[in-house]
Amino acid sequence: MKKPGSRIPPFAALFSSTNRGTTDVQPNEVEELVDIDRVSRETSGGAEADLAFLSILSGEENPVVEKAVQTATEAPVRSVMDTMDESTPLASQLANETRRRERLSHRQLPKPPHTRYLTISNQKGGVGKTTTTVNVAAALAAAGLNVLVVDIDPQGNASTALGVEHHADVDSIYDVLINDMPLADVVAPCPDLDHLVVAPATIHLAGAEIELVSMVAREQRLRRALDQYAKHREASGLPRLDYVFIDCPPSLGLLTVNAFVAAREVLIPIQCEYYALEGLSQLLKNIEMIQKHLNADLVVSTILLTMYDGRTNLAAQVAAEVREHFPNQVLQAIIPRSVRISEAPSYQQTVITYDPNSTGALSYLEAAAELAERG
Ligand SMILES: Nc1ncnc2c1ncn2[C@@H]1O[C@H](COP(=O)(O)OP(=O)(O)O)[C@@H](O)[C@H]1O
Ligand SMILES: [Mg+2]
Repeated sequence: MKKPGSRIPPFAALFSSTNRGTTDVQPNEVEELVDIDRVSRETSGGAEADLAFLSILSGEENPVVEKAVQTATEAPVRSVMDTMDESTPLASQLANETRRRERLSHRQLPKPPHTRYLTISNQKGGVGKTTTTVNVAAALAAAGLNVLVVDIDPQGNASTALGVEHHADVDSIYDVLINDMPLADVVAPCPDLDHLVVAPATIHLAGAEIELVSMVAREQRLRRALDQYAKHREASGLPRLDYVFIDCPPSLGLLTVNAFVAAREVLIPIQCEYYALEGLSQLLKNIEMIQKHLNADLVVSTILLTMYDGRTNLAAQVAAEVREHFPNQVLQAIIPRSVRISEAPSYQQTVITYDPNSTGALSYLEAAAELAERG
């Protein structure tokens, strides 16, 4: 029965031919007895299993027991999912997450053929732009892709979440946009993720909207800085960036316009709430204007549903409505409302590093994988 070199789990070893009929069953072995009984019941039927159980105790040969031990030997680590009782909501959620995690573990994220430039935009505040920027960026970096996050929101929330200094004395994206400082001089590594670098925002950026107005090529400044940075990386032998994410302020000012001009793709996070679609038409109109006058290549490539509360019908309705309007853009992955996601920034972390096993991290990892696979 025991195959040479195969790892026999303890309960199978208990019933290997040499141990059969043993009378001194220890308390911890009772569980194993019950377990082997369960396996034999699964592989046969009730009455046969009873006979098999008796034969285990007596040490007699029994085909059902042989089969059960063989099953256990061949698959020593039975998947947790197979045995999970899904009859309660919590258990079914756990089973569902285990399944999703398992699926994710088989996914290897492809490198895009060219650097992908995405701006995360929505003119509403508090819809999850920054949260989406930092977590999708972190998920991709954790998968080994090279990522740059450009923080152009004067609040600097993305810089905070990524653990990068952004007090008033730090050289920042403000200096790049206004003082022609090379991006390479302000980019800082994210302390928790090897493949992630950040161009931080400082409070000075609050005045940049006004300062930009009178500048030459005021809408193109970020794009030029990014092009120059790509060349700098190449000349310095640094790996090519796979993704650049630009975290925008909620308003449509010159900072956001710079992001739209620098990007090729727009990622719109949509909060699953009643007013979700309100304001979206205005955002799409603005993007059309940008396409017409400043950046013909810009497309709304991705929409991500965020802060989804599975307990409400409203969230489900909003999600369905958004999917109906944008069937090709909305990712399958949905970001749930999650305490872990909201508390991660106060530890200067993303949820990917703060609590990688949480539902929130899982959802952002799925969203990032989908984004990467769609290309
Ligand atoms: N999925 C989520 N679950 C719970 N809280 C979230 C989630 N996404 C974002 N938040 C919280 O909502 C607030 C607004 O999110 P944020 O990403 O800063 O939005 P924006 O950048 O669009 O203003 C923040 O306090 C953030 O921590
Ligand atoms: Mg923000």
